Amino acid sequence: MRLRGRKGIKEALEAQPELVVLEPEMYKGKWSEVFGNDRPIHVEFGMGKGRFISQLSALNPEINYIGVDMYDELIRRGSEKAKESREEHGGDLSNLRLVRFNIEHIENMFEAGEIERIYLNFSDPWPKKRHARRRLTHAGFVNKYRVILNERGEIHFKTDSRSLFEFSLNSFCDLGIRLRNISLDLHAEGLRTDLVMTEYETKFSGKGMPIFRLEAVIGQQALDQHLDSLQRREREEADEAARRGTDDEQNDEE
Ligand SMILES: C[S@@+](CC[C@H](N)C(=O)[O-])C[C@H]1O[C@@H](n2cnc3c(N)ncnc32)[C@H](O)[C@@H]1O
Repeated sequence: MRLRGRKGIKEALEAQPELVVLEPEMYKGKWSEVFGNDRPIHVEFGMGKGRFISQLSALNPEINYIGVDMYDELIRRGSEKAKESREEHGGDLSNLRLVRFNIEHIENMFEAGEIERIYLNFSDPWPKKRHARRRLTHAGFVNKYRVILNERGEIHFKTDSRSLFEFSLNSFCDLGIRLRNISLDLHAEGLRTDLVMTEYETKFSGKGMPIFRLEAVIGQQALDQHLDSLQRREREEADEAARRGTDDEQNDEE
């Protein structure tokens, strides 16, 4: 992402301590205190200009959100987007924080089990093999995410990059992580308006490019719930098949 920084940006960020956090390491293990409640915390790593996290936090006031990026200018743009989203949807900004931080050191920002969901949206693909370790779905990162996620922990990942998606599938599978809701063309049957779109997603899907998506189930409780829902679906499908079989028999007799 090409960025032209503005003069006075540091002062602009420092002037909004209720929204912008510039030294997040101070709050490791204390994010619930920052929000003033025990609600779940969902985080976007690499939020860019912040449209996704701004809209999601406006739509879900019962969840706390943190948008992370490493550039001041993006945090500034994110803060503008956040205010615009509240003008559009109403509500206040108390459930959102924008944080300037390098995700490589994420273990210094969150305590073990402190967050419930990670969003990775259109992460830089780093196509060269020698840069593989920089991809945000590399095992080195995923293992850190596993520590900071709680029992209900999940990772939701979207990308336009087929090669990053392939790499990520292998990375999660090599770590023995259960995946669900895998899509190789998320908007194939019309835009999924139930899922908030990011800036990159709007741009790429507007050009007709497929969007790849998956959910990685990390926490034990999330996994148990997922397995329960699979069993329930299997039972419903068996009941439905049995019902259809009975109907067919009756039709044959008539
Ligand atoms: C391609 S952009 C995607 C932006 C946004 N998520 C979207 O979908 O529109 C990737 C973003 O990740 C951020 N990023 C990449 N590596 C990062 C890191 N190690 N720490 C923090 N942010 C990072 C970049 O600054 C950039 O804003």
